[in-house]
Amino acid sequence: MQTTIPTTRVPLEEHKQGEVYSNPDIAFATEEGTRLFYIESYGCQMNFNDSEIVASILGEAGFQSTRDADQADLILINTCSIREKAEETVRKRLRVFDKMKIQRPGTMVGVLGCMAERLKTKLLDEEKLVDLVVGPDAYRDLPGLVAGAEEGNRGVNVFLSREETYADISPVRLDSNGVSAFISIMRGCDNMCSFCVVPYTRGRERSRDAFSILAEATTLFEQGYREVTLLGQNVDSYKWLHPESGDTVRFADLLRMVAEIHPELRVRFSTSHPKDMTDEVLHAMAGYENICNYIHLPVQSGNSRILDLMNRTYDREWYMDRIRAIRRIIPDCAISSDVITGFCSETEAEHQDTLSIMEWAQYTMSYMFCYSERPGTPAAKKLADDVPEATKKRRLEEIIHLQTQIAHNLNQQDIGKTFSVLIEGDSRRSEEEFKGRNSQNKMIVFPKKPGLKPGQYVNVRITEATSATLRGELIID
Ligand code: SAH
Ligand code: SF4
Ligand code: F3S
Repeated sequence: MQTTIPTTRVPLEEHKQGEVYSNPDIAFATEEGTRLFYIESYGCQMNFNDSEIVASILGEAGFQSTRDADQADLILINTCSIREKAEETVRKRLRVFDKMKIQRPGTMVGVLGCMAERLKTKLLDEEKLVDLVVGPDAYRDLPGLVAGAEEGNRGVNVFLSREETYADISPVRLDSNGVSAFISIMRGCDNMCSFCVVPYTRGRERSRDAFSILAEATTLFEQGYREVTLLGQNVDSYKWLHPESGDTVRFADLLRMVAEIHPELRVRFSTSHPKDMTDEVLHAMAGYENICNYIHLPVQSGNSRILDLMNRTYDREWYMDRIRAIRRIIPDCAISSDVITGFCSETEAEHQDTLSIMEWAQYTMSYMFCYSERPGTPAAKKLADDVPEATKKRRLEEIIHLQTQIAHNLNQQDIGKTFSVLIEGDSRRSEEEFKGRNSQNKMIVFPKKPGLKPGQYVNVRITEATSATLRGELIID
C-alpha cells in the first residue's frame, strides 16, 4: 500500500502496511516547561498499536503529546521495513525532521520499530540522521534513553526479547474513533517465509498473558468501544500457558473468552496463517454472533512451487482445503488476502495460478504487492530476484484489475440484503451520512437519522454498491 504524508489524520480503519498516521488527539493541557513528543507511524497495525504503547510509556514519564512536529522536543518515527518503498518513505521524513532540527536546536529525533531493528546504529552513526534508535522490544527504555541522550550518551537499544509483550501497559488510544481498537495478543514471528523481514525485526514469537488481553478488552468495552481486533503476525499460533493452573490457552479459547465479555463487543482478528488455521477456530467463530465473519488469510501465491520457494509451508491444495473449511463451517464468511507478484523465478504460468486462485477464492479484498527483496532474508541470500520490475508491475496490475472486478461483483450481490452495522462515525464525504462495517468487514455508508451515534448497531439495507463501498438505508424496526 502506498504511503501518504500525514498532513491530515488517516482514519484508523485505513491503517495498513506502509501507511502513516500522525499524532494523538489526547486532551493534555500543555503546562509551561513540559516536554512534548510527536509520533508518526508506518507499517502494520501492530506497529500502530506499538505507538500507542510508546505514547503510554512517555505519558507516564511526564511527556505530553503534540500533533505538530514543529512544536515537539522529541520527534519519533515508528518505522516499517517490509518493502524497500516503506524504508524510502521513512528516510524522506527523517531528512525533513533533520531540517527542523537545524531551525530548532535541541530537538531530538528518534527512530523506532522495524527499521531501527534492521539497521541498528546505521542511521545514528553513519548517516547521522537520528539521536535515538529504539527497537520494538525496548520501548520501556525510551525515557531513560532520552535522558541519557540529553547528557550526550548514545541513545540505542535494539535488544530483542523472548518475553516482552508489554502486557501491563495500557495503550493510549491514538487517533481513535472511540468505537474500534486494536489489541496486540502476541509479538514476533517464528515462521520463516523466505521473502519476509519480520522475524529479523520483531524477533521470536511470544504470546501475551490471556488475562491481560481480557482485562484490556473489558476496559475498552466499559469505555464505550464496541469492537476489538486481536493482532498478531500469526494469530492461530497464539498459545499461552497459565503459570499457576498449567492450562494452555490457544487462539480458539482466547476468541471465546473475549467474545464472552459482552454480546455487543465485536471481535475481529488478524492475521491468520493458512498452515495454522484450525477448524476449531472456525467453530469458535460460528458459535458466537459477535465474532465477526471475516478472515484475512493471505495466500501470497496460487502456485505450489512458488509457495515452496517462499517457505510458506502449505501448497495450493492445502490452501484451497482451508477455504473450503471456512465455507462449510461459516457459510457467510468474507475472506481477504495478501498477494505478492514477481517472486523469484515466477513464470507467466505460475502467475496465472495466482489469478486463478483469486478467482476461485472470491476474496472481498486483497493487499497486493510487487516482490521487494529484503537484505538478509533467506530469499535474498539464496534466490535471484530475477523477474524484471516491469513484469512484476504488469502482473500486479493484472491482479489488481481482477480483484477490483471480484469485489465489484461480490458487492453487487449484497444489494437488497440487510446487515447489522456498527456505526463508526461520519462518512468521509458528508456529515449527513454515517459509515460503519458489517460483520464481513465491508464499509457501509448510509444517511443519518436523529438520535443515532457512533458505537450503536443499526440495520442497513444495501441499495448501491461499488468495488469499495456499499451504500444503504436504515431499517428502523
Ligand atoms: N504475518 C502476515 C503478513 C505480514 S507482512 C502473514 O504471514 O500473512 C504483510 C504482507 O506484506 C505479507 O502478507 C506479504 O504479502 C507482504 N510482504 C512481506 N514481505 C514482502 C516483500 N519482501 N515484498 C513484497 N511484499 C511483502
Ligand atoms: Fe512474515 Fe511469514 Fe511471519 Fe507473516 S508469517 S510475518 S509473512 S515470516
Ligand atoms: Fe512493517 Fe514491521 Fe509491521 S516490517 S509490516 S512494521 S512488523
